[in-house]
Amino acid sequence: MSGSKSIARTAATGGALDPDFLAWSTSLPIDRRLLEEDCRGSVAHVQGLRAGGLLTDAEADTLIAALQSLPAKVASGEVVLQADEEDVHMAVESWLRQEVGDVAGKVHTGRSRNDQVATDLKLWCRDAVGRLEAQIDAVLTAAQAWASRHEDVVLPAYTHRQVAIPTMAPLWIEGALSIALQRDRALLAGVRQELAESPLGGGAVGGTTLPVDTGVSSKALGFDSPPGNPLDAIGQRDHALLLVFVCARLGLHLGRFSADVIELASDGLVKLGGAIAGGSSMMPHKRNPDLFELVRGQSALRQGELVQLMVTFQGLGAGYHRDLQQDKQVIFAAVDGVIDCLRMIEISLANFELLPEPCLRALVAGDAVATDLCEGLVAGGMAFRDAYGKVGALVAAQRGAGKRLAELDADALKDAGFDPALIDRLDPVRAAKRRAARFGR
Ligand code: ARG
Repeated sequence: MSGSKSIARTAATGGALDPDFLAWSTSLPIDRRLLEEDCRGSVAHVQGLRAGGLLTDAEADTLIAALQSLPAKVASGEVVLQADEEDVHMAVESWLRQEVGDVAGKVHTGRSRNDQVATDLKLWCRDAVGRLEAQIDAVLTAAQAWASRHEDVVLPAYTHRQVAIPTMAPLWIEGALSIALQRDRALLAGVRQELAESPLGGGAVGGTTLPVDTGVSSKALGFDSPPGNPLDAIGQRDHALLLVFVCARLGLHLGRFSADVIELASDGLVKLGGAIAGGSSMMPHKRNPDLFELVRGQSALRQGELVQLMVTFQGLGAGYHRDLQQDKQVIFAAVDGVIDCLRMIEISLANFELLPEPCLRALVAGDAVATDLCEGLVAGGMAFRDAYGKVGALVAAQRGAGKRLAELDADALKDAGFDPALIDRLDPVRAAKRRAARFGR
């Protein structure tokens, strides 16, 4: 392997690259993933060159046909991209030269790898946004189906890891998962907005004096417009930063939901299906929440990726810097990682169920109806703080006797100085439904 053959070097560059430096610095192992986008971008650029009179129709047709054929040839193994190239862009151009000869020397007219890679990345991110939206939708559909299967199940809502208030399963899954994912999905529209401008025409950093028709390439690639400013077009990665932030926030939300399921499972309120439960290699009785623990753990990786990307960009001046090459592995990992986690949560939603009886026992044991009893007194005219103190005293007395609020009958309530009609307030199921009704359920 020899760097001296590289078409991105001249006499002024100073000879061949050290082979170890080339092997260490090439981005090809990472950016070969952009091959399809790179060829698509080059086809659009060729169309812009033709429209600008910089290529004949015959030249453009030759280049376009070759570029369009390459991704399938690489996928089938018919073509292997040269490993001793600096990146996918040079590997494609080298192959093009072998394939179509000297006319390949015109493809890079009025273009730099700087606007080229910015374009490839935007095309990849646009596709990633679509894949994320589709996978979020799949989770939301699965969550809806889970909610329908558990429509009438009452469970405890927790604060401080302690039973707090009776709630309904559909309210829990929406509050613990669906609504947050809907907000994340809405943020992706902002990413799309930041992907709207084509970088092609930005050149290395100052555009080009040649009459390349960048309106044609922009349109061919589905962008709204050619670049308004070449420095910004080739050097900014805000769209990717926002995308990775959305991945990190999705990861956080999936991790938070996972933490809920893990805790419900450890309290025996949830049964994990065999399809997703982990076993122990030693303890034969275990049914562990591995899926949820891994998803929770992945959330840490997403936050790390966001920080990696921000730190990569921080302190760079405007324009292109080779540091930017290191953005792609982080962006790919963030998107791949969160799409996989979304898919795992989608699978999990078909494979765990809330157990109504244990949920009821937990509600009773946790005196989850205390606030409801208190509000019953308030509805009867008592000041809240007085009701709060009165119910607190009752809870303390019951617990002192080894009992729970829900074990009181109407007579016992009366003996304790409460209206016996308030017995109605001690039913956790009715309490949950009364509360859910306030939220339209
Ligand atoms: N491989 C580079 C990247 O991924 C693109 C090449 C730009 N290189 C350069 N020396 N201007 O960012």
